[in-house]
Amino acid sequence: MTSYTDHFGFNAVPFSKDIDDDKLWLPPSKKSIVGDLVECVQERKHAVVTGESGAGKTCVTRAVRHALGNQAVRLTYCHNVTLGRRDFYRHLCHALGVPYGSTAGDVFLSVTRHVEDLARERVFPVFLVDEAHMLHQDTLDHLHILTNYAWDSKSLLSVILVGLPELEERLVLRRNRSLHSRLSYRLSIEPLSPDDTADYIRMRLGAVGCNKELFTSDAVAMLHEATSGSLRDVDRVAHSALRLAARKKRKLVERDIIQAVLQSSGYLGGGP
Ligand SMILES: Nc1ncnc2c1ncn2[C@@H]1O[C@H](COP(=O)(O)OP(=O)(O)OP(=O)(O)O)[C@@H](O)[C@H]1O
Ligand SMILES: [Mg+2]
Repeated sequence: MTSYTDHFGFNAVPFSKDIDDDKLWLPPSKKSIVGDLVECVQERKHAVVTGESGAGKTCVTRAVRHALGNQAVRLTYCHNVTLGRRDFYRHLCHALGVPYGSTAGDVFLSVTRHVEDLARERVFPVFLVDEAHMLHQDTLDHLHILTNYAWDSKSLLSVILVGLPELEERLVLRRNRSLHSRLSYRLSIEPLSPDDTADYIRMRLGAVGCNKELFTSDAVAMLHEATSGSLRDVDRVAHSALRLAARKKRKLVERDIIQAVLQSSGYLGGGP
């Protein structure tokens, strides 16, 4: 605990990235993306999810994992994707706990055998590739083989690609046309609305035992404007604002506090 948590009477640090999957904030816009992805997996299809940095893409994938909880699904999360094709498959084998050989062919065989074993056990594998905008082109070239992997015309796995908006820009290139055409669900995480930002702050404070409107409405409006919908930025500015307010022995976070934080962190002119 820190002095600012004592000052405000919080029972934990708010705006921390340590948040349990079942406690994630899911306003209607995010709920609908989680619902679409669950449906995508149930239909054995593939998806791409894009959104700006800090918009909450990785948290949405955690909410999907939570929502799929009881279903016969084996979700493998790959985020170390700045790799060439062979190393990507090795990483995938490692994540799946299957042995990998030395050639790309051996590795691909290991993955496909594993997928078939799971199919026999009636477990459906889902490969979730985060930061997919960083995939090497040769890995992207190969991914369409995985997305096309079927037995008796039934898809044996789902691939979900998650990344920054430039991922979508790469997928629409002629070279990636066949992979793109297999991604039936194309979802984008939109920036927060002002009401979303207010709701998020309320939820985060409520989670640490504070049910008061600690941030005044014009403070929230300013914070929203400056962070342009990035939850990670909301976390950082709100955290600094609470610390500054506590240092100044204030009981509310008002507009001048947000302004001071934004100024000192270079969001507004006149920083140090
Ligand atoms: N649904 C949510 N519930 C609670 N907190 C969230 C949620 N979404 C995002 N956050 C907060 O915002 C931070 C950034 O979210 P996240 O890592 O999901 O963004 P991202 O879009 O994956 O960013 P990047 O493009 O940099 O990978 C999280 O660490 C968390 O603190
Ligand atoms: Mg992320």
